[in-house]
Amino acid sequence: MSALGHVVLVGLPGSGKSTVAPILAGRLGRGLVDTDADVEKRLGMSVERVFSELGEARFRAEERHTAEAALNSSEPLVIAAGGGLIAQRGAIEILERHATLVCLDADDAHLVDRLGGDGAVRPLLAGSPHESLRHLRAVRSAAHSHAHVHIRTDGRTPEEVADRVAAALSGSVRVATAHPYLVRVGAGVLDSVAEQVPPTARRVAVIADEAVSTVAEHLASRLRLADVTVTVMAIPGGEDAKRWSVAGALLERCSDAGLERDDCIVAVGGGTVGDLAGLVAATYLRGIAWVVVPTTLLAMVDSAVGGKTGVNLRRGKNLAGVFWQPCAVLCDPTVLETVSQRSFRSAFAEIVKSSMVGGSDLTELVERRLHAGLERDPDALVELVRGCCELKAGVVAGDERESGRRAILNYGHTVGHAVEVLTGLGAGLDHGEAVAFGMRVAGALSIVESGCPTADIAHQDELLDACGLTERPRLAPDEIAGHLGLDKKARGGVARWVLLRRRGEPVMGIVVEPTAVIRALTQAGVA
Ligand SMILES: NC(=O)c1ccc[n+]([C@@H]2O[C@H](COP(=O)([O-])OP(=O)(O)OC[C@H]3O[C@@H](n4cnc5c(N)ncnc54)[C@H](O)[C@@H]3O)[C@@H](O)[C@H]2O)c1
Repeated sequence: MSALGHVVLVGLPGSGKSTVAPILAGRLGRGLVDTDADVEKRLGMSVERVFSELGEARFRAEERHTAEAALNSSEPLVIAAGGGLIAQRGAIEILERHATLVCLDADDAHLVDRLGGDGAVRPLLAGSPHESLRHLRAVRSAAHSHAHVHIRTDGRTPEEVADRVAAALSGSVRVATAHPYLVRVGAGVLDSVAEQVPPTARRVAVIADEAVSTVAEHLASRLRLADVTVTVMAIPGGEDAKRWSVAGALLERCSDAGLERDDCIVAVGGGTVGDLAGLVAATYLRGIAWVVVPTTLLAMVDSAVGGKTGVNLRRGKNLAGVFWQPCAVLCDPTVLETVSQRSFRSAFAEIVKSSMVGGSDLTELVERRLHAGLERDPDALVELVRGCCELKAGVVAGDERESGRRAILNYGHTVGHAVEVLTGLGAGLDHGEAVAFGMRVAGALSIVESGCPTADIAHQDELLDACGLTERPRLAPDEIAGHLGLDKKARGGVARWVLLRRRGEPVMGIVVEPTAVIRALTQAGVA
């Protein structure tokens, strides 16, 4: 099964599911199931006759049986779902869990036209098709909003629609959380922002780092083309943005802009603006949809995926926040052209971290593409972003709220967060630099505490050196050690460490003697 699972086309009658599905199946090299056609074949009569002779209930049962059989297939398929399937109780939840849902849509006038005008013969459109469509749209819009991608079909040929769907899916990573979502990676993906915002959203607040105002304006113009009312809220990025008061001011601005429950926030910036805007999305009206557009490499390879949102408190990093998954993440490496060399390089701490805790595929990818990535080679960056997102997607899907394995992603962060705070949030070592130092400490501890081969840690440190991540904090070891108990993962004031048994085999929840911590800090070379 491919990472995206089955692709299911949903949408109102006339949206083009049955026409587009075979073309898409050809583009993707997949088998095809059309639930209506399958039912017609099995019962030997048209859908209209099934409705009139056997009744709608029988049709729905047959339709559901077909869909379940298709979803159980081990071969990834393109499935054209009969329009009423998603309206069946529990169906949308099953579909979104097992498949990537693509919703096709067009104006009612187009739909009626495609169905043959006012003489439309579809059973559910008998009488006045315009009236019936309006009713169906209202009834099914909640289910359609679960789709992972929304493609307009008005003014496009079926081939063009299939191309758009294929482009949306190619190279995307699926994060299979309770409400799964896609991470789209590639040059130009920002042009498709309207395809990722829930169709119910009439207003969008673009919360953007001032440093990327052109990116924010580009997104706003694409959304306006889709008839969405957009308010751009620019704020200075950086660690100072991650404050409760800034979140509060943004909440007031969302309220002033008239955002409602079905509306959406688009977060545009690095990890700081992402964490902050995510918290705003999670708390505004008790939670509205949000899309993340990361604009630093660090945000692309780490913070944009996984739904951790939050702000800092005086005593530490990220001490207030919630888990709130986005509905999509759009990573366009071309926005990285303006990122400072320091920020760019810092992201490699998270890339090296991912390769230390992840599987062999990612290790191999990082070894192969690290140097080209450091040179900002666009293809290498796409591969590295995708590889790191795949690791994170897999870990997060199994442990959305970090009650277990997700903690492996905190390798290097126990010391990293302490160092960020102690050197002055936003003024001293930045997140990546601090995590790189934290990995050196965790590496040294791994050799002693969890038997990690020395060569694995020596190699980790060489990779960090190759990335230019050689900063050491000007702090005394006991000063850092004294701060570790404030970490979110600490219990009873005692830090719980993520260490390595070997590269690719992390262990969590390790308690380490204070003297051993001081030794490791000294060995890692506090300045
Ligand atoms: N939520 C998570 O899972 C998670 C994971 C890792 C890190 N984080 C958080 O992420 C933050 C670090 O993120 P970051 O490194 O992206 O920092 P950042 O958001 O501060 O961005 C770094 C700097 O780059 C600027 N910038 C952003 N995009 C730019 C662009 N395209 N061109 C030019 N300048 C640009 C910003 O204004 C800022 O000055 C930390 O607060 C960390 O705690 C969160």
